[in-house]
Amino acid sequence: MLKYIRAKFRPANISHTAAPPTLAVIDPYSQAFIDSPYSALEQLRHHSPVHRCTSGSWLLSRHRDISAALADPRLSNTPSDYAVVNQRHRDRYTCADVANNTLPFMDAPQHTEARRNIARVFHEQLRRASLQSNLPTDTPSDLLHDFATPLCTKTLCSLFGIAPRQQTAELDRQLKLWANWFFSLFSAIPSQQHRQQLDAELHSFRQFCSGLLNQKRQHPSDDLPSALAQLHDQTPSISDTFMADNCMLLLADGLNADYAIANALHCLLQQPEKINQLRAKPELIPAAADELLRFDSPVLFIARRALEDIQLHDQLITENSGVLLMLAAANRDPDVFTDANTLNFEREAKPYLSFGRGQHGCIGRVLVKQLLELSLRWLISEAPNFALVRTQPLWQHQAGHRWLQDLPVKIP
Ligand code: HEM
Repeated sequence: MLKYIRAKFRPANISHTAAPPTLAVIDPYSQAFIDSPYSALEQLRHHSPVHRCTSGSWLLSRHRDISAALADPRLSNTPSDYAVVNQRHRDRYTCADVANNTLPFMDAPQHTEARRNIARVFHEQLRRASLQSNLPTDTPSDLLHDFATPLCTKTLCSLFGIAPRQQTAELDRQLKLWANWFFSLFSAIPSQQHRQQLDAELHSFRQFCSGLLNQKRQHPSDDLPSALAQLHDQTPSISDTFMADNCMLLLADGLNADYAIANALHCLLQQPEKINQLRAKPELIPAAADELLRFDSPVLFIARRALEDIQLHDQLITENSGVLLMLAAANRDPDVFTDANTLNFEREAKPYLSFGRGQHGCIGRVLVKQLLELSLRWLISEAPNFALVRTQPLWQHQAGHRWLQDLPVKIP
């Protein structure tokens, strides 16, 4: 039996490139990797661009390979046969049902039309939104918890037609907790206890979104759930839970855009001369937002599954293997970005991959850019001269992501 497993997952003709011993210990799920990913990613890109890590997954780290992988139909978004969220668990686990209902876990052809409709409705709604009024007014002492999180929560509540009088501090806190739980779907689920709590949280979040959709169906208004409910009514093949689950996806993604803003503000406070540059040349803000998203992306990697054996360079990625696309490594690939480890707001625009690309590329990219630009304008014109309280940031242990735990600041 062992022989069979070896034959299936570790074919004899794999040829390994001579890689430094440190590569053997890279664990993309570890806290150490999240805390300090860039030197490990540089090693991978340089010595072992198609790398098999100890968990058995393959890591791709070059921009060109990842761009090709994002367009390769042999790499599926559907969960692996061994994943807790595999579709065969749908009837048993809420997490598996939610995952298989939502866009990032679907393949064409089911994915194509659902994505087109949801993206259209989302972008139409976004065009009508005005974000300026969502900026917090009090001087923050923590740029994640007192600035970025309230900005995103207020923005998403306004897009979702959750009226200010309903939007209590308790609901804000609950929504953010649900958003964080939702992102466990993109990670390995470590224990049965974790899975049980995830199921409970997703069940409540789903009920909240179903309730919102029903309420908006009965009393439509100019907001995203009303437009999604209308889309649902026009498309009888879509189930109630499918709509509620993608509503959850959009809400969770939007609420967690605070981490992108916090990473950007953190980078700027580490290099205050860059804040001065933006003060002197505010026309650089749109390019600065892109550059900050490239430089310290809140998404480190995304996952795919090989639907068949794939030969890539001198490695054979066997059918059913997990393939992790290291977006953060692509963003620092010197073949694409000159002085890739330097923050440069005047660099020539090149395609960074923090938002993925192609048929699964991020639907919220425009919203994130708008929120980040708004935050940068606020930082250079309205905020006091903040300094970081901590020299070493604390990162959450959220595999595949680089999310700060907090961002305390002081006014020196
Ligand atoms: C915080 C910054 C964000 C980053 C770095 C980011 C990154 C990404 C990436 C890399 C993907 C591709 C996943 C894949 O190919 O498997 C993706 C997909 C997606 N993103 Fe974002 N995202 C962000 C914020 C948002 C926001 C604010 C929204 C909407 C409110 C959003 C909605 C989506 C949706 C719906 C998908 C799935 C698209 C599909 O599978 O067709 N994202 N995002």
